[in-house]
Amino acid sequence: MSPLSSAPPPLASPRPEASPTGASALAHDDVGRGPALVLLHGFPLDRSLWRHQRDALATRARCLVPDLPGFGASATADRPDVDALAETVRALLDACGIERAVIAGLSMGGYVAMACWRRFPERIAGLGFLATRMEADDDDARARRDALASRVRTEGATAVVDAMLPGLLGRSSRRRRPELERELSSVMHGTAASTILDGLRAMRDRPDSTGTIGTVTVPTLVLSGDEDVLTPPPVLGRLAAALPPDTARLESVVTGAGHLPCLERPAAVTLALADLLDRCFPLHDAPAA
Ligand code: MLT
Repeated sequence: MSPLSSAPPPLASPRPEASPTGASALAHDDVGRGPALVLLHGFPLDRSLWRHQRDALATRARCLVPDLPGFGASATADRPDVDALAETVRALLDACGIERAVIAGLSMGGYVAMACWRRFPERIAGLGFLATRMEADDDDARARRDALASRVRTEGATAVVDAMLPGLLGRSSRRRRPELERELSSVMHGTAASTILDGLRAMRDRPDSTGTIGTVTVPTLVLSGDEDVLTPPPVLGRLAAALPPDTARLESVVTGAGHLPCLERPAAVTLALADLLDRCFPLHDAPAA
């Protein structure tokens, strides 16, 4: 296993001044050997969301786990949209000397993964869509984003913690794993208000990706938690149904998980990602990264 390129972020990261990773603008973990797997976190979280999969899959893949701009330990970008976020992922691949990778994203990370496919499909060997949606925000969702942004301008990160924390974990995790709620609250409170506002704007203005999903030609994982109230299984079912019929796909509904199955049921998500890697890079022809 190769060493981390930078230490995992503390649970509550201060406002970053600059990326510690040098070559790429994104602070990131770079762990393991084998075909590259990029894991993109959701909003308003950081790369610690993927720590279980990063550690478990390092024997099978080179796991690249970035903090998206402004989140965790990454420097902020200038009013990024999802396409600009995708370009930071492409720059990370370039900086790490990676030609092709499997890219998996959860929720906002899924929006970025869709933008990656739109912009540089030739660099993508497989796609994972977890707890995300292909449709753009409708008018109500856009109005909710704007109302939340107004609150964030006066109350800071507390507003987003109040609004989002209750919906992130499934009922089983809320009952059995109170430490997860404390952890998420800490990460969210540590996210700068300016990054939260950028993220809300980027998600509000993201394009509809239904057409993009219809062009996917690589093996795909589509995963949801059965207790997810933000992107319930039917939302992921619509995404899976929009894939071209001949796209190799695994559809998985993880029981006992809400919007963050990679934290709530880590082993189930690790298995699903390992299956995706196996379909993209069968062991006999996996390139050594
Ligand atoms: C996320 O988890 O990234 C957000 O819930 C996505 C969104 O608000 O659309």
